Amino acid sequence: MKGSFHGLRGKQLSVLLITIVFMSILVWSWEKNPFRTTFLHPQNIWLPLSSDIQTKAHLETTVTSQPPESSGIDKSSIAEEVTIKDLDKRQFQVAPSKGSPWMADVGGNLTSHVEEKEEPKKVIKGVEPEENDTAESVTESGGKQEHDSGVDNSKQEERINFQVPPGSEHINATLPGENYEKAPNPEENQAACNFAKGKWVVDDERPLYSGFSCKRWLSSMWACRMTQRMNFDYETLKWQPKNCQMEEFEGSKFLKRMQDKTLAFVGDSLGRQQFQSLMCMITGGKDRPDVLDVGREYGLVKAKHAVRPDGWAYRFPSTNTTVLYYWSASLCGLEPLNKTNPATEYAMHLDRPPAFLQRFIHRFDVLVLNTGHHWNRGKLNANRWVMYVGGARNTNKKIAEIGRAKNLTIHSIVSWVNSQLPKYPRLKAFYRSISPRHFVNGDWNTGGSCNNEMPMSIGKEVLQDKSSDVAAESAVRGTKVRLLDITALSQVRDEGHISRFSIKGTTGMQDCLHWCLPGVPDTWNELLFAQI
Ligand SMILES: *[C@@H]1O[C@H](CO)[C@@H](O)[C@H](O)[C@H]1NC(C)=O
Ligand SMILES: *[C@@H]1O[C@H](CO)[C@@H](O)[C@H](O)[C@H]1NC(C)=O
Ligand SMILES: *[C@@H]1O[C@H](CO)[C@@H](O)[C@H](O)[C@H]1NC(C)=O
Ligand SMILES: *[C@@H]1O[C@H](CO)[C@@H](O)[C@H](O)[C@H]1NC(C)=O
Ligand SMILES: *[C@@H]1O[C@H](CO)[C@@H](O)[C@H](O)[C@H]1NC(C)=O
Ligand SMILES: *[C@@H]1O[C@H](CO)[C@@H](O)[C@H](O)[C@H]1NC(C)=O
Repeated sequence: MKGSFHGLRGKQLSVLLITIVFMSILVWSWEKNPFRTTFLHPQNIWLPLSSDIQTKAHLETTVTSQPPESSGIDKSSIAEEVTIKDLDKRQFQVAPSKGSPWMADVGGNLTSHVEEKEEPKKVIKGVEPEENDTAESVTESGGKQEHDSGVDNSKQEERINFQVPPGSEHINATLPGENYEKAPNPEENQAACNFAKGKWVVDDERPLYSGFSCKRWLSSMWACRMTQRMNFDYETLKWQPKNCQMEEFEGSKFLKRMQDKTLAFVGDSLGRQQFQSLMCMITGGKDRPDVLDVGREYGLVKAKHAVRPDGWAYRFPSTNTTVLYYWSASLCGLEPLNKTNPATEYAMHLDRPPAFLQRFIHRFDVLVLNTGHHWNRGKLNANRWVMYVGGARNTNKKIAEIGRAKNLTIHSIVSWVNSQLPKYPRLKAFYRSISPRHFVNGDWNTGGSCNNEMPMSIGKEVLQDKSSDVAAESAVRGTKVRLLDITALSQVRDEGHISRFSIKGTTGMQDCLHWCLPGVPDTWNELLFAQI
């Protein structure tokens, strides 16, 4: 009796011992790596992985060819450099898009959707400058397009104009954790490190800021927390590069590193998303009344009849750090052909940098360029952009092909920036690869959708060596401009788009182009931060 009792105690003791040892290991690993411990989110680990076939289908987008339209190219003369003021009038004017859900004004009943955390958003009445962005984005895929609801995704995807080199699209499913915890030390590894390879993991420290806050910088139409969306799993994902350590983003570290420096985003609305994301990341979404609006220094002021300025610039006085965004959807020089005619066409100089960039590049320490989604016939027509090459109206039919014209511009801008680097040795220039769209069964205006709300990419490795954005990769090759390659890693995040959600419940078109914030563009900034 006693013996067996003692035996039991012995057993209990060893159980206790084992428990203690186990707990110590847990605590130790927690201390080492508090937020990488995925067991806190068991439901997410076991999310079904989307079939490889599906992922591949996503990735095997297209060898680009020309969109199914062509428009006559008329001739006209060359005008002079455009001024920022001139651009104000046209740059944001786009083809009308009726019934876009994202055009809904900001007057909805929000209270019912606001969960825990912050106080409900105050309803803002009236016109926010951002509101018309969406108009811009709606047309981002072009004017009229084939209305056959035919499921020709390859055709739809053509407009993305990027390709995956055959055989390079390995996305392997592995369990989280493997091979990752022991990332080599950054110094020895950074050179060989390709941040575009890796996988998405769940991180309970995410998101880096709240989608309820950051109101000064985050457009309400992109703050999915303000919409009817209920699933926010996408906010908890973090990109974990393979074979390299990515420094944790910290606003204070960023500012310190950027002491007396200026970071400029120049590009389309996806560039603007990255800009807003960065502002929110730096501030943690907290109010920062000390941050100065210095747009005026860069001519970024709203013109009389403009919906909004051409960009925004903010300065953190504590470190004298400036972060700015300039809207240049085409990333090439634009000039009105007849300055006195409000309905003028614009010369779209495929081989010239935007005037803004020429004027201010000497003030930038970090430059992040992007373009892509305005390169379609509908956009060009709506904006009355007419292609010019070598200062003359383009008559070369091959160049007139959208994909090639875009390719020409990407190569031109990268090559021009590269040519400036010797003059500005402190400048670090990046070209950000294209942000993928996820319209399924149609396009933005033909009922295309992206209804998946669940992260399907957790733990799956993105391992391709080459960028999915062939034009971007080839443009930076042999230059000192670096590729910020976000295409493949964003490609597997179809659940992260605005989708059908808006502030006001609406039916109709979906936004499978822009991303919810906080969300995927935060990762682009983490990759950027790790490389500056
Ligand atoms: C807003 O929604 C809540 C909850 O659904 C409802 O009780 C309230 O009456 C609504 N308010 C307005 C102004 O529609
Ligand atoms: C968008 O801008 C146009 C002028 O370009 C204006 O008439 C319209 O009211 C704006 N729409 C919204 C929702 O602000
Ligand atoms: C990764 O994918 C490749 C090609 O599909 C396959 O040959 C390989 O076995 C996979 N590796 C793992 C670890 O699953
Ligand atoms: C802030 O930084 C800029 C360079 O970006 C420098 O020219 C300027 O003198 C700095 N201002 C102060 C107050 O240090
Ligand atoms: C420019 O536009 C104005 C106003 O529409 C027009 O009167 C003028 O003839 C145009 N000039 C040229 C050179 O086309
Ligand atoms: C893109 O432009 C570069 C430089 O002009 C050229 O070498 C390359 O072949 C072009 N690529 C395509 C797909 O047209």
